[in-house]
Amino acid sequence: MQEAEAVEGSRELRVRWADGSESRFPCVWLRDNCRCPRCLLPSAQARALPLEQLDVDVAARHAALAPGDKLRVTWPDGHASEYEGAWLRARCFSEAARARVQSELFLPERRWWGSELELPRLPFDEVLRDAGSAYAWLRTLRETGVVLLRGAPARPGALLALGRRLGFLRLTFYGPTWLVQDKADANNVAYTSGRLPLHTDYPALQHPPGVQLLHCIEQAAAGGESELVDGLHVARRLRERSPDAFRLLAATAVDYADTGTDYCDFAVHCKQRIIDVDARGEPVRINYNNATRASVLDVAPEHVRPFYAALRAFDELLRHPEHVVTFKLEPGDVLTFDNWRLLHGRRGYEPGRAGGRCLEGAYADWDVVLSRLRLLRDEVRGGRAQGPAPAGQ
Ligand SMILES: [Fe+2]
Ligand SMILES: [Zn+2]
Repeated sequence: MQEAEAVEGSRELRVRWADGSESRFPCVWLRDNCRCPRCLLPSAQARALPLEQLDVDVAARHAALAPGDKLRVTWPDGHASEYEGAWLRARCFSEAARARVQSELFLPERRWWGSELELPRLPFDEVLRDAGSAYAWLRTLRETGVVLLRGAPARPGALLALGRRLGFLRLTFYGPTWLVQDKADANNVAYTSGRLPLHTDYPALQHPPGVQLLHCIEQAAAGGESELVDGLHVARRLRERSPDAFRLLAATAVDYADTGTDYCDFAVHCKQRIIDVDARGEPVRINYNNATRASVLDVAPEHVRPFYAALRAFDELLRHPEHVVTFKLEPGDVLTFDNWRLLHGRRGYEPGRAGGRCLEGAYADWDVVLSRLRLLRDEVRGGRAQGPAPAGQ
């Protein structure tokens, strides 16, 4: 820091940096984020200052630079706060600085793709063993939305190991992990040998699982190919081509239901927008599963046909050959993908006699995956420069 100056009636401090640039810091924010042990519980790095003690109009009584590149502020009640230059600079309020910080925190740069995608691949055992490989796995999972881990043992258990690598898996009514195979009296359409149209998993839950893990234990001799589509990419294309359809799918609350018995008995019901958008109108999550879309449709009768027309338009765009990647999992493959972004499907297969096609599946939440990604990034940055790039892409 070169200089600190009180402006706006001392309700804001302006800091000039060594490179000549400037940052503005509102005093209410500075007071709220005092780093002293009375205002911040150091062991938790959590705010201890209650909001009722914060004066929204607070002005600095005195502000000056202190040794060790610190800004020292004294408040009207005599309380004093100190802020390190680097800490302040990382919290600059300029638009460019905020965008940089947010992308560091959420690692959101996504790469959109269509049928040309070469599935990113990494060796399963390296991801378990090596921080750089685990970092490459989760970073690519965030950016591209899919990573194929290869060479896992072709028996149940691989997903529990990946769960431990992440922290923990997401428990649902289908159990900690679940077997996708042809079952008598299937309690889910996935547990048959029929074709599964493109879908996201579990929109019947209010918080659908963020990441899905599918471990191929046995594959069908004929059929059973997997299909993947970048649903957020297709939603953006729908917005260009059929803005009315996009608007309807982003606005209509659709009922989803799932009833049955598995890990325990369940009667799940919730409402989802098929295309979830954020405050800026950007698509952030696809909630689309035709099997569990409820027969209850909570719209006025005159809105029913326009809703179906919009859904058909989206579905057709999803299935368009330029958007679909098709491949066949082999025993030992673990397909990991973003269940908020991608839709997945399966071609029908011959059930066969003994054994037959068998996948083990599990879910993880993005909170857990992104948390592990941030920790691995810091670990890799502290040691090696960069993890290996996955093959493919
Ligand atoms: Fe599925
Ligand atoms: Zn304090």
